[in-house]
Amino acid sequence: MDEVTVGLAALERTPLFAGLDRGHLEEVLAVGRRVSYDAGQAIVERGDPGDAMYIVLGGAAEVDVGGRFHRLERGDFFGEMAVLAGRPREATVRAVEPLEALRIPADEFQVFLAGNPEVAVGMLKSLVERLREVQDRLDTWIGGVW
Ligand code: CMP
Repeated sequence: MDEVTVGLAALERTPLFAGLDRGHLEEVLAVGRRVSYDAGQAIVERGDPGDAMYIVLGGAAEVDVGGRFHRLERGDFFGEMAVLAGRPREATVRAVEPLEALRIPADEFQVFLAGNPEVAVGMLKSLVERLREVQDRLDTWIGGVW
């Protein structure tokens, strides 16, 4: 299989892009670049500028959220928060297994989202899930303190 076929197969399994046809998936691939990281390597670091977002194609990474770890696997994305908000990275994301990802530069990603609102909505849903998870954790913590 060539590089494009492998990339398309991975994107087709990404829930975020579930509604996109082949032409749009090829657009995503065209603006992205495949990158690899060794286990233990940091991909983005807390405080860095948000120059790109990433889609995991294979392997695994972990986000360090205040000493708790959130695992990211094939089909998950990360690095979108700093890109969307124009603010520094919220957290460090580190490969915990050899990782293959699609790196989409911030500018191209903004343009892509503007042309594909269904992907923007999918991303909002994931952000809401994340917010709920953080809220649950806070509630548990506050419940424990009081
Ligand atoms: P960004 O802030 O650009 O870089 C770090 C990334 O970690 C962030 O975007 C999100 O993609 C991800 N992230 C931050 N907080 C959480 C969380 N609580 N759960 C899962 N992923 C997170």
